[in-house]
Amino acid sequence: MRTLHIYSLLAVIPVFACPNNGQYQQQALKNAQCDRPNVVFILTDDQDTHLNSLDYMPHVKNHLLDQGTHFTKHYCTTAVCCPSRATLWTGKQSHNTNITDVSPPYGGYPKFVENGFNEKYLPVWLQQAGYNTYYTGKLFNAHSVNNYDDPAPAGFTNSDFLLDPFTYNYLNSTFQRKDEQPKSYEGRYSTDIVAQKAQDLLHDAVADGEPFFLTIAPIAPHGNIYMKEKSGGVGKEPMLGHSAPVSAKRHEHLFQDAKVPRTENFNPEVPSGANWLLELPQQTQENIDYNDHYHRQRLRSLQAVDELVDNIFIALEDYGILENTYVFYSSDNGFHIGQHRLQPGKSCGYEEDINVPLIVRGPGIAANYTTDIVTTHTDLAPTFLNLLGIPTRDDFDGTAIPVEREDIEAVAQRKREHVAVEYWGYAGGEGIFDSKFSFHSIEYHRLMVIETLHENNTYKAIRIAGAGYNIYYSIWCTNEHELYDMSVDPGQMHNLFPVISSNVSIAGYPLSKIVSRLDSLLLVLKSCSGEVCREPWKSLHPAGDVETLQDALAEEYDEFYGRRQATRVEFEYCWNGYVPEAEGPMWETDGLAFVKDGLPWYDWV
Ligand SMILES: *[C@@H]1O[C@H](CO)[C@@H](O)[C@H](O)[C@H]1NC(C)=O
Ligand SMILES: *[C@@H]1O[C@H](CO)[C@@H](O)[C@H](O)[C@H]1NC(C)=O
Ligand SMILES: *[C@@H]1O[C@H](CO)[C@@H](O)[C@H](O)[C@H]1NC(C)=O
Ligand SMILES: *[C@@H]1O[C@H](CO)[C@@H](O)[C@H](O)[C@H]1NC(C)=O
Ligand SMILES: *[C@@H]1O[C@H](CO)[C@@H](O)[C@H](O)[C@H]1NC(C)=O
Repeated sequence: MRTLHIYSLLAVIPVFACPNNGQYQQQALKNAQCDRPNVVFILTDDQDTHLNSLDYMPHVKNHLLDQGTHFTKHYCTTAVCCPSRATLWTGKQSHNTNITDVSPPYGGYPKFVENGFNEKYLPVWLQQAGYNTYYTGKLFNAHSVNNYDDPAPAGFTNSDFLLDPFTYNYLNSTFQRKDEQPKSYEGRYSTDIVAQKAQDLLHDAVADGEPFFLTIAPIAPHGNIYMKEKSGGVGKEPMLGHSAPVSAKRHEHLFQDAKVPRTENFNPEVPSGANWLLELPQQTQENIDYNDHYHRQRLRSLQAVDELVDNIFIALEDYGILENTYVFYSSDNGFHIGQHRLQPGKSCGYEEDINVPLIVRGPGIAANYTTDIVTTHTDLAPTFLNLLGIPTRDDFDGTAIPVEREDIEAVAQRKREHVAVEYWGYAGGEGIFDSKFSFHSIEYHRLMVIETLHENNTYKAIRIAGAGYNIYYSIWCTNEHELYDMSVDPGQMHNLFPVISSNVSIAGYPLSKIVSRLDSLLLVLKSCSGEVCREPWKSLHPAGDVETLQDALAEEYDEFYGRRQATRVEFEYCWNGYVPEAEGPMWETDGLAFVKDGLPWYDWV
């Protein structure tokens, strides 16, 4: 059943439609939209893969999962909104954007501008290559009613952005269109406004007749952030509070029985994880009930997104451009509720937070196909450029994802196996049980966290899944380590690092041997850029004979990695941003070879 047609789809559109029969490539092409493919990118906010939210989105299933390719091992590299979006739009890890927080001094839109990325990100490159670019919804945090034109985000043919401090207010949002003043939409439902604006922009894009890239970024299923009081707090600025996501009225009674999946790591009897997680109390029944409610509100809030998706596909079909348009669906970061006793939130390195949906449909892409090749948000900008026939850039930290089945099968589990996970700062639950986590808005300019529950949430980690192994390895700023064998412990409940000298093995290898390789890999990844991030083993083995963890585990390298154990990732202290003094051993790279004080690695290890 198709959902309500709230849009007038066939408004007066010039006749630009491409032949709908798949033969457009052979025809004398009349317009650029038939010549070069279009992209529609739907980017949700905080959508999980492990709480099964995709199961509650029938239109995402019909249009995307059944008709496209699902990348089940797609990851963000920094599990929080603004840093992750900066990575996604620049193709760079957070340690290379130095956008590591949602607001200044370590992140937010002002930092994006300050660090020069407003001239160096995907929409700008797309425009330079002749694409029209459109955007509606949330772009970055701290992109606000005060700084939206100071400067405006570059690279958009047309845009209609949600602005802070109203971005996450489901029923009182403020949008700002192209060169116009911000406009309040008090009382209207955020996702429905985004859906309508997306239709308007799509209409413009088709009418303009150029190939286009349209991003639609609704806030669901992020928590609701609302104004608590008109004044109070610093500078008499409004206090902002957090509540569960708000659904559209028409969805508020759905899924009464839905609950957070009761996996092994859900509110466990004994604490799990490391650092501050070990202090978390087991949740009471009242807390669990609230968290199930929070979960249902997320699912309900996603229903309007699901309708948005349906209506976009209906429109693409009606305009006759569906066959020539790639549709991508993803989320900036994942989400946890109750796993490891955590309150609703993100910002951890665990699987719930870093593993995010990625579904791609379009010309040449296999339908109803699932792959577990490892891909990350650093790969998306290169992927878009590659698909659209635009030359890629050497300084990308990621590589274009193969999207056609044949190409996916050719790389499967060979060179695509690692994710460099990193985080700096604090963590705070977003439900009512982490009550100390609250915000106020400084001159409406940014959200500032005034009290946080969990500081020292700074860590570097590797998620690696290849031939016979499936591992998470982390080092915290407190220098605690975690090692999980996710082939047998998918919930990351049994930290093997403390038993590193035992006879426990992963994929048949002693833990100490695995860790010796991962220590070196993490040292490379923590400060990598460009090709070093893409092919980190080459820094350690310049001859190119080692491309995977499996290769590096060969006995002939035991001595080499034994020696390298002297230098590994270690923090001096915990800090809320990427301050090199805090980060312990750090090496510069010279091309592919590691150097220290100008000497190549083999002279100093
Ligand atoms: C998708 O593939 C699965 C098997 O892999 C099959 O059961 C299902 O019917 C397929 N769905 C569609 C819509 O083709
Ligand atoms: C909505 O936001 C405006 C500021 O743009 C504020 O004046 C108004 O009180 C808010 N309304 C509600 C219902 O929160
Ligand atoms: C590993 O060590 C434990 C005791 O520490 C022993 O019971 C077990 O048999 C050993 N397993 C193997 C495979 O050697
Ligand atoms: C956080 O880290 C700092 C510096 O490393 C340390 O002094 C402080 O005690 C830590 N705080 C907590 C709550 O662990
Ligand atoms: C990142 O930005 C912070 C805040 O401006 C600064 O203190 C730090 O030195 C920067 N880090 C790097 C590696 O440039």
